[in-house]
Parts: sequence; structure tokens; C-alpha cells
Amino acid sequence: MSKDTRSDANARSRRQVLKAAGLTGVLAAVGGRPAWPQSAHAEAKPENLPPHVADWSKYLGQGVADQPYGKPSKFEAHVVRRDVEWLTAARQSSVNFTPWHELDGIITPNGLCFERHHGGAADVNPSDHRLMLHGLVEKPLVFSMSDILRMPRVNRVYFLECAANSGMEWRGPQLNGCQFTHGMVHNVMYTGVPLKVVLNEAGLKPNAKWLLVEGGDASGMNRSLPIEKALDDCLLAFKMNGEALRPEQGYPLRLVVPGWEGNIWIKWIRRIEVGDKPWLAREETSKYTDLLADGRARRFTFVMDAKSVVTNPSPQAPLRFRGQNVLTGIAWSGRGAITRVDVTLDGGRNWREARIDGPVFERSVTRFYVDFDWQGEELLVQSRCHDSTGYLQPTKSELRAIRGVNSIYHNNGIQTWLVRANGETENVEIS
Ligand code: MTE
Ligand code: CO
Repeated sequence: MSKDTRSDANARSRRQVLKAAGLTGVLAAVGGRPAWPQSAHAEAKPENLPPHVADWSKYLGQGVADQPYGKPSKFEAHVVRRDVEWLTAARQSSVNFTPWHELDGIITPNGLCFERHHGGAADVNPSDHRLMLHGLVEKPLVFSMSDILRMPRVNRVYFLECAANSGMEWRGPQLNGCQFTHGMVHNVMYTGVPLKVVLNEAGLKPNAKWLLVEGGDASGMNRSLPIEKALDDCLLAFKMNGEALRPEQGYPLRLVVPGWEGNIWIKWIRRIEVGDKPWLAREETSKYTDLLADGRARRFTFVMDAKSVVTNPSPQAPLRFRGQNVLTGIAWSGRGAITRVDVTLDGGRNWREARIDGPVFERSVTRFYVDFDWQGEELLVQSRCHDSTGYLQPTKSELRAIRGVNSIYHNNGIQTWLVRANGETENVEIS
């Protein structure tokens, strides 16, 4: 996100700091009751319950021609992307967030993938779309979508995380819900052409070291991409989860840069220039750099480090029942695969290994569970993940010791949720 300083100040002025009664070491909590309905828990109508015959068993349902493109049940209407109105000055250069607390497994449904754009979502006619490739190449080329669709393609599942995900939480707990604290990540199966196939077709000159990748939207978003990464695992993707990219995700063509910050995943990609050094574009100098405590800024923090969050329980998904409960969450790492996730229910005194279920891919979201019994005691819930490089997700204090609190981007610290005796859950930190 770009309007960071302003949104930070706004967020702080809106923060309600509550005292977490009865728990020592809790720094601050953000107030507010969860305002999101969850249909599965609504009051049942007795006339639909056994021994009665339910309404939907008495009449014919809708026919096959009624909904050529299907949509979720009307009882799931609360499962939507949400935005935070005061976060940005305009809705076209803004962000909305993935409702992770309503999802399961590892794939984000297309209509729920968070959106981040700087000039609105472009509405591109694929027959008019072109990708230009020029600069330090033997043969400059312009590709149509028909050209791209005739090249060898691959399928890969990757997470995309905006560098600003959890960026509002650097100075303390701020937003009450994992949708808002961790919702700038989605996980999709992409179908696309390896970028190296396209680059090889043009022929790279020996001094080709960097690419400038540029979007065709009104923001003309551009970033410098090192040639090693471009030739390694980047894709020019045209499908997400089997169907065409959604307009807001870059239809008809987007760059996929596995494990790297979302900003460089250029949408509506229209131009690749090959050069011998980085361009130092706006989005890699004034934005998407990490301001350290001593005032220096770290440049090109491309990789997203390992991170995890418990999505249930969380402020939008409180605990409702005593006894048997399912805790679940997601973990991901830009450096490889998630190898293990630990969960604590008592603020870090005791950790247990979570059960990972579903496919585990490199640079993809991984799903974990802890099946547990709850008798109404207060909980301080955290998760921490390990990745295949041996890296362990840091605490927020460990991060701040190195990075200070001037940062906006790359906050992968451990998240804490306080579950109260009535099940309501809040965003807190443990000092
Ligand atoms: N590409 C273009 N052309 N324009 C943009 O505004 N935003 C970037 C990146 N690519 C952007 C873009 C940012 S900051 C992020 S986090 C991701 O796209 C968001 O991708 P998504 O909208 O699919 O979630
Ligand atoms: Co971003």
C-alpha cells in the first residue's frame, strides 16, 4: 500500500485500547464486537427440523439453465472481500482483504482473492492486448494473447502476499480480524507460460541483467526484476484456478513471481524491457523499501519470509461452543515449503505441533489444524511456522529489535489472539 503514513495515523487515532483483564503481559487489545454474521450459527426454524419435512424438500429447486455461471449460496453472502474505508484516499488506489476466517483448504476462490491496485482494475479486451519485449535482446518482439496461448504452459500453486500485509500492525495491535491483519495474501493455481520461454524466443544479450516489467493499467506500475529470478520460476499467467484471470487480478495476463512481494507481480502486463541495471522506479525507492530505525532504508526486499496466522478462532470468528473445537490457520514461506507449524493456547508457555493437512507446495499456503477441547478458559492463541530452509517465524519483538517500528512492509511477526471466556476474540500483543 502506498498511503501508509496517513493510514497509520488514522489507524492509531481509531484504536481503542482495552485492558485485557486477568491476564498479565498483555500489551493492548483492539476493541469492537465482531459484526459479521455466520449463517451456520443462526437460530434454526423449528418447522424445518425433524420430524417435519423441510421447505426445500417440498418444492422443486432451480433448473440447470437458471444460473449459467454459479455463485455461492445466499446464506454465505457475508463471505466477501472487505476494505477499510479510511485506509486510502481513493477507492481506485486501494486494497480489499481476503476473508481467510471463512475459508478452508489452501486455494483462495477467485472471487475472494484480495485486490490491490494503484489505478483501478483495468478492463482489458484480450484481442487488443499486447506484450512488448525489447531492450537488450537479439530480436524485439510483440506478443498477442493468441501467441501466448500457443506456447508450452505449466500449472503451479503459489501465494501472492502484498509486502504491506500486516503493515498496520508494526506499532501495535490495530485491526480486529485476520481478514484485515493478514488478508493481503491469496493462494491460487496459475496456468501460464514460463517467462524464460518468452525471453529465450527474443534471445537475451550477454549483458542482460535486469528486466523492467510494466503494467497496462492507468498506474503503469513498473518494477525491476533480476534476470536470475526471471529465468528461474516466473510465469506469464492467463488462468487462475482453472478459469481466466479475473479483471482485478490482471486479465488477460499477469506476471507471477513466486515467493516475492506482491508488488512485483505486475498485472495487465504490457511491456518487458531488458537492461543491465535496475531502473530504481518509484515503487522500489519511495515505496516498497523498508525504513529502518536509524533512518536508512533497505531496498529490494523481494522475498516474503515465512509467516502464519490462526484464522479460527479470530476476532471475526469467535469461539461459540464449549467442548470440541477446531483451531485452524494458514502458513506460507517465500523461501520454500512449510515443514512444521506450532500452536500455543497459553501465550507461548506451551507449544504443540499442529496437524498439517492438504497438499504442501513450495511458496504456497499450507493449512494446519489443532483439534482441542475448550471449557471457557481465556486463551492466548499464537502460531509459528518453520520452513524448509530451517527459518522460524519471529516474534514481533524480535522483528522490531532489528527493524524498528518505522517499517510498513514485511511484517511477518507472530500474531496473538485473546479468546475471552465468552468466546469473543481480540487482536492483542504479549509484551
Ligand atoms: N500491477 C499493476 N499493473 N498495477 C497495480 O496496481 N499492484 C501490485 C501488484 N501488481 C499492481 C500490480 C500490488 S502492490 C500487489 S500486492 C499485487 O499486484 C496485488 O495483486 P492482486 O490484486 O491479484 O491481489
Ligand atoms: Co502490494
